[in-house]
Amino acid sequence: MAAPVSIRGLSRCFAGNDRPAVDKLDLEVNQGEVVCLVGPSGCGKSTTLRLVAGLDTPDDGEITIDGRTMRGVPPQDRDVAMVFQGFALYPHMTVRQILGFPLKMRGAARAERERAIAQAADMLAIRHLLDRRPGQLSGGEQQRVAMGRALVRQPKVFLFDEPLSNLDAALRAELRIELGRLLRRLEATALYVTHDQAEAMTLGKRIAVLRQGRLEQLDTPRCIYEAPQTSFVASFFGVPPMNLVPVERSGEHVRFGPLRVPVPRAAGAHELLLGIRPEHVQIQPDGAPSCADDTRSASRLPAQIVSIEPHGAETHVELEANGQLLRARVKGFDAPVPGESVSALLDLAHVRWFDASTGHAL
Ligand SMILES: Nc1ncnc2c1ncn2[C@@H]1O[C@H](COP(=O)(O)OP(=O)(O)OP(=O)(O)O)[C@@H](O)[C@H]1O
Ligand SMILES: [Mg+2]
Repeated sequence: MAAPVSIRGLSRCFAGNDRPAVDKLDLEVNQGEVVCLVGPSGCGKSTTLRLVAGLDTPDDGEITIDGRTMRGVPPQDRDVAMVFQGFALYPHMTVRQILGFPLKMRGAARAERERAIAQAADMLAIRHLLDRRPGQLSGGEQQRVAMGRALVRQPKVFLFDEPLSNLDAALRAELRIELGRLLRRLEATALYVTHDQAEAMTLGKRIAVLRQGRLEQLDTPRCIYEAPQTSFVASFFGVPPMNLVPVERSGEHVRFGPLRVPVPRAAGAHELLLGIRPEHVQIQPDGAPSCADDTRSASRLPAQIVSIEPHGAETHVELEANGQLLRARVKGFDAPVPGESVSALLDLAHVRWFDASTGHAL
């Protein structure tokens, strides 16, 4: 069976721009799958969504939905529902009418409509707003109504463009869990744009990382985090991001201060980036006893604390080692103070390597 959404060689270059907004993009969304599109501002996420929705026309490439080409097919005939920031709601209708409208158009019975409206309203916590009109709603409430309208419709493909971005942090965290549950229950097929890593990780079965209109990596959240294919993906995902230390290879090793770290055999390049996540950098106060059989002693680096940032459950620490700034995460508030001399213990089992010139993982 053809994938619900298949994007092949998709390109879109706006007049006057020196670079395409979307550049030969290949992407497939499988049946019942939510693919999250992430990437820095301006990398082409919204443009991609608009092209799939039919609100814009590609310069090149092909989009198919359920195996049917979308070339020349107007938005209303694509069976997609798009929710984006600043979505325009019919101003003269009540929320109840807005939610029920797509079902009414489809000829659904009143009882079915009421049930679907109630379900969406409960999930989005807008039941108390059902008799208001859009002009009487806050931005975040309007956004939830727009989302409810799409959910009630149950289209073949959902297209979400940062649908939770107008909400406060608490509501956002609550809704992404609810929304995830609902999308799974509906076995919804969706492309979901977000800036929020937690949202991408929670909602996406796979995550597509875009950079300058191109696909950097398409993978499960776990692979994106644990096995980034490029240094860009490595530094984009994770809070704080992965440490990427420029090192030079000599023979089978690289040197980082007093450390001699073995390099994988396949490494052809001379200039490398040693990647290590902050949770794999431990901090030990200077003068703490070090066991002779401590296998980590080989990865011990003298370092100095630069700054600390407490978050409650953990503290993010910046330290300087061998002229490099490193980030570490420690539990609770138990971090040393800025200026203190410490040892940084690198867990070398978790090191990722990248070619410094291409950014590709070795
Ligand atoms: N109508 C347009 N005319 C000219 N350039 C455009 C147009 N729409 C988008 N662009 C450009 O295309 C690029 C991609 O824009 P797009 O809106 O897809 O980015 P995005 O990834 O959604 O960013 P953000 O995260 O900020 O929403 C940007 O450089 C933008 O300036
Ligand atoms: Mg956008």
